[in-house]
Amino acid sequence: MKLDIIYNKSSESMSDIPDRSIDLVVTSPPYNIGTIYGNKWEDRKIVGSKDIKYDDAMTEEAYRAMLGNVFSESKRVLKDEGQMWVNIKNRYLNDQVVPPFWIMDYFGDMFLKNIIIWNFDWGGTTNIRFCSRYEHVFFFTKHKKNYTFNLEDVKIPALNYRPERYKSQLKNPSDVWKMSIVSGNSPERTGHPAQYPEELVERILKTGTNPGDVVLDPFIGSGTTAVAAKKLRRHYIGYDTNAGYLKTAETRIRNIGNPA
Ligand SMILES: C[S@@+](CC[C@H](N)C(=O)[O-])C[C@H]1O[C@@H](n2cnc3c(N)ncnc32)[C@H](O)[C@@H]1O
Repeated sequence: MKLDIIYNKSSESMSDIPDRSIDLVVTSPPYNIGTIYGNKWEDRKIVGSKDIKYDDAMTEEAYRAMLGNVFSESKRVLKDEGQMWVNIKNRYLNDQVVPPFWIMDYFGDMFLKNIIIWNFDWGGTTNIRFCSRYEHVFFFTKHKKNYTFNLEDVKIPALNYRPERYKSQLKNPSDVWKMSIVSGNSPERTGHPAQYPEELVERILKTGTNPGDVVLDPFIGSGTTAVAAKKLRRHYIGYDTNAGYLKTAETRIRNIGNPA
C-alpha cells in the first residue's frame, strides 16, 4: 500500500487499499445542497466565477448511493480497532431543515461514540430564521471498547480551575467544539469552497491516532487532512475526483515541508 498519496479518482472503489489497513478515517463528504460554489460575488450579486468550480447537486438517490459505496469501502479498509469521523451539516430542502442523522443508517455495524457539535461565530446570514452556526461531527468506532483515545493530548484549560477542588488545570474538551471556520481572509484559505479547518482535524488525529498511524480521507478536497496528518507525523491517503483540488492539496503539503 502506498502512503502519503492522494488519488485523483472516486473513492467509491478504493482498491489501492487492502482490507483492515487504515487506523482512522476522517472526512467531510459533499453535502449535496444543490449549490454550485465558486461564484464571485459583488454587492450581493454573482458577477463571475472563481477558478475552482464545485458542483454539489446530485439527485438524492445518486447522492445516497455514492455515500453508501464510499462508506462501505471505508469500513472495509479500517482496522478492527479503527475509527471513523464524519463531518456533515444540516441542509435546507423545501425551506426546512434536514438534520444529518440519516448518516447513522450507514454505520449500524459500528459504535457511535459521540456526536460533536462544531460551533463557530461566523457564516452565512438570513433574516427568515436564526443563522446556522454549527455542524456535526459523528464519531464511530469499529470495536465497542478497543480504540485509540488519547484524551490527555487534547485536554483544554479549565476556566473555572480551583486548586483545592481539581487535580488539573486541564479538562476534557467535551462534545461542543468552538473553532473558527475557514473564512475568506483566513491564512489557511485555498480556492476550495468547503474547506474544514486544520484545527478540527488536528484534534481528531491527536485523539484517535498515534504517530506513524495511517489516516484516510475519501473526500480530501484541498488536502486539509493530509496537512494535519503530515504536521502530526501520521501517514495519509486521500481521494478526490477533482484534479484542481488535488493540485491545491499537493501545493499545501509541499509548503509545510518536513516537520521537525
Ligand atoms: C466537502 S468537500 C471536502 C473538503 C475538504 N475537507 C477540505 O478541507 O478541503 C468534498 C469533496 O469531495 C469530492 N468528491 C465528490 N465526490 C467524490 C467521489 N465520488 N470520490 C472522491 N471525491 C469526491 C469533491 O470534489 C470535494 O472536494
